[in-house]
Amino acid sequence: MSATARHTYQVEVREVVQETTDAVSLTLHAVTGPTDSLDYRPGQFLTLRVPHPDGSLTRCYSLSSAPNSAMRPTITVKRVHDGRASNWICDNVAPGTVFDALAPTGTFVPRDWSAPFLLVAAGSGITPIMSILRTALAAHDNPITVAYANRDAESIIFTRELDLLAHCHRGRLTVTHWLESESGRPTEAALRTWLTAAPESHAYLCGPAPFMTAARNALDALGLDASHIHSEVFTSLTTDAFGTAPAPEIGGSTTASTATVELDDEVHSITWPADTVLLDVLLAQGLDAPYVCREGTCGGCAYTLRRGEVRMRENHTLDQHDLARGTRLACQSEPRSDTLDIVFDQ
Ligand SMILES: Cc1cc2nc3c(=O)[nH]c(=O)nc-3n(C[C@H](O)[C@H](O)[C@H](O)COP(=O)(O)OP(=O)(O)OC[C@H]3O[C@@H](n4cnc5c(N)ncnc54)[C@H](O)[C@@H]3O)c2cc1C
Ligand code: FES
Repeated sequence: MSATARHTYQVEVREVVQETTDAVSLTLHAVTGPTDSLDYRPGQFLTLRVPHPDGSLTRCYSLSSAPNSAMRPTITVKRVHDGRASNWICDNVAPGTVFDALAPTGTFVPRDWSAPFLLVAAGSGITPIMSILRTALAAHDNPITVAYANRDAESIIFTRELDLLAHCHRGRLTVTHWLESESGRPTEAALRTWLTAAPESHAYLCGPAPFMTAARNALDALGLDASHIHSEVFTSLTTDAFGTAPAPEIGGSTTASTATVELDDEVHSITWPADTVLLDVLLAQGLDAPYVCREGTCGGCAYTLRRGEVRMRENHTLDQHDLARGTRLACQSEPRSDTLDIVFDQ
């Protein structure tokens, strides 16, 4: 059984912008890898190997810049209390710092840019929201509300740009702030009075887990259909997405399905044991299938199921809208039909 080396490349920091006392934006440039190494869609994230005295850490950071714009790819990192990677980045990174990186990925990407957007963020959760907002304003004409919660006025990241955008797009863009220092914690009851959404709106939520739960429940209570609520969870990975993947365990199941898998413009025929996840089958065959966390949280292994059925062991990232479109996670999928047809196109 073969192990697979990941396709990694290096990115260099070109510019560091101090956004607040606790947050920096890093403008990046790919120094190795193909020219499209840093191509991304609004809402996607980049995976970095962050050096640390205790050993390097794999961390995901969403792009805050808009693709197809004059902006260079930019990530924005906020210190987490006692957090290892975020504090290392905020204290040490300077122009010229080089990181190992994995290509941008993720499923927190709007599909319908004509619907009204309700963009709800707390703290560093503004990062992918900013990418979506910048893209929508530049390339689409849907109405947008940004609802942004922070500890206090000094913690607001992108405060001047948000003010400026609201001013320039008056009538189309509304930006509202929630400050804990003035209004207390944004509980579900409080969010029910703060947030409003027309039934056709799509809501994009990003922030700490308790805030997201409160926001989702508030939007449910306001009658927004669950398939219109999309969220991105920020967690620290416990796995190492770089280097050589451990040789996967292929289960001892006597039942197996057959699948055609389209990956990097090549079609492969695989035998897929019923008790083994798709990612492990592909890695065992030496195929360079995409993945980051292998825990069902990041969406980095997402694919489209064109035919057949699978069961996902865990799913902490795909929403009902993604599932209805056929999106599934390779690191969590076991086959549940005799034949399947799969494409990695996310
Ligand atoms: C898809 C995705 C996108 C993301 N995008 C962004 C972004 O745009 N901007 C951003 O700032 N962050 C983002 N994150 C979060 C980021 O990846 C890191 O999780 C964050 O920077 C914290 O990492 P850290 O190493 O500093 O903290 P960690 O060292 O992982 O610590 C996190 C917290 O856990 C506590 N902790 C750590 N170890 C232990 C332990 N052993 N026992 C108990 N408690 C412990 C720490 O005290 C701290 O409070 C994203 C995450 C994901 C998954
Ligand atoms: S690799 Fe992160 S969800 Fe599968």
